[in-house]
Amino acid sequence: MSKSMAAISPTALDYDPLDPVVKHEPYPYYTEMRKTDPVKWLPSLEAFGISRYDDIGTVLKDGITFSSQQFWPLLLGEYDPLPEEPPMISMDPPGHIHLRKLANKAFTPSKVNMLKDRAYKIAHELIDDIIAEHGETGEFDWAWEFTALYPVTVIAEVLGVPTQRRAEFKHWVDDILSAANRAAYGPEKLAEIAESSKNVRSFFEDLYDERKDNLGEDLLSSFIMAEVDGKKMSRNQVLSMAILLLIGGVETTTNLLGTVLVEMHRHPKTKKRVHANHDLIPPLIEEVLRFNPPVQIIFRHATKDVEIGGTSIPAGSAIMPILASGNRDEDKFEDPDTFNIDRKIDVPLMSFGQGPHFCLGNYLTRMEAKAALEVAFSRFETLEVVSDDVKWIDSYFARGPATLPVKYKAAT
Ligand code: HEM
Repeated sequence: MSKSMAAISPTALDYDPLDPVVKHEPYPYYTEMRKTDPVKWLPSLEAFGISRYDDIGTVLKDGITFSSQQFWPLLLGEYDPLPEEPPMISMDPPGHIHLRKLANKAFTPSKVNMLKDRAYKIAHELIDDIIAEHGETGEFDWAWEFTALYPVTVIAEVLGVPTQRRAEFKHWVDDILSAANRAAYGPEKLAEIAESSKNVRSFFEDLYDERKDNLGEDLLSSFIMAEVDGKKMSRNQVLSMAILLLIGGVETTTNLLGTVLVEMHRHPKTKKRVHANHDLIPPLIEEVLRFNPPVQIIFRHATKDVEIGGTSIPAGSAIMPILASGNRDEDKFEDPDTFNIDRKIDVPLMSFGQGPHFCLGNYLTRMEAKAALEVAFSRFETLEVVSDDVKWIDSYFARGPATLPVKYKAAT
């Protein structure tokens, strides 16, 4: 069967996360998998894909049987900036619990709310720059000139690093995350990734050494000072946490904001309603998180022989819970393939994971996204995606538009 035929009429056997057709539009494949082969061996990644909501939940809530230790090594391979100190996302109990308690303190709703004014200000500044560059009406790339810069600026401020370096930061994060596709790259690209990995490490090493003698109000300082059960974090633990926040908190929010505009373009009635009533921005964000989430897939491995959804999985196997498929599970969400910002959601979304590693940044990203969209929709009288064809980033686990030209008219 040709690739284009496969896109029209997928069967579970066709689901290969690395196939460009699947990467472009994976949802029909997930649907077929949930129906006919819910726990499926994926030869190209040598892993079991888990597609049903309940099975994904079972895996994510049991951090003993389903270890996270291989998460970072699988994702980054030899391009991990700090391989000797795994980040919390790639740790199991008891080490994970200690670090999570420390990090949690930085992400409480009250701490995040303290950043709100800055988030609005950063969004305004970026739009000022766009209007200064392109005029009162014109065209710009929403993905490159707004969404790629906004979360990285917020995180840079949270961590206490100079925001002038945000473009460099974004470039490093993009390179490091692209290490997931390392098997497909030639020596030139791999050398670039290695260079960015080295740069991130030495940047944070320098920053740590400077900051430990000049503590401030920033997150890096609070990690240096923080204590849980009388224990402080080591230098490497602080560095590892900072790098995780940079990698975990930038591309995800960038992609969410990109996809919001794609879905509004695809659903003009919703778009009209949201532009007329900004109170609909939070339900819009929730529905985009469900319908087309920035993190499609995460990684675990089985620590013992186990059975999931009737399939035997041998100890040591790699496992990929497909969060984006869980969000479309017809047993949990009514009419799951319909984009509907009025839907009543009865179960938690899978978008931020579940269980011990549930995303620490979920409140922050929702706050950031709301601020950015409120500012954008009030500063632009019109904001139109130019083309119906979306070029998605080249990844099977992260999802968002790679580029998104928009036409706009600034509000007077
Ligand atoms: C739309 C935006 C985001 C999405 C979709 C997202 C998604 C996720 C997911 C699925 C996990 C669970 C991983 C697992 O179970 O293995 C996770 C964990 C995590 N996220 Fe996010 N994330 C987002 C934004 C952020 C932001 C803004 C930050 C912080 C600046 C952040 C920090 C973290 C951290 C530290 C963890 C690890 C928690 C742990 O291991 O206990 N995330 N995220």
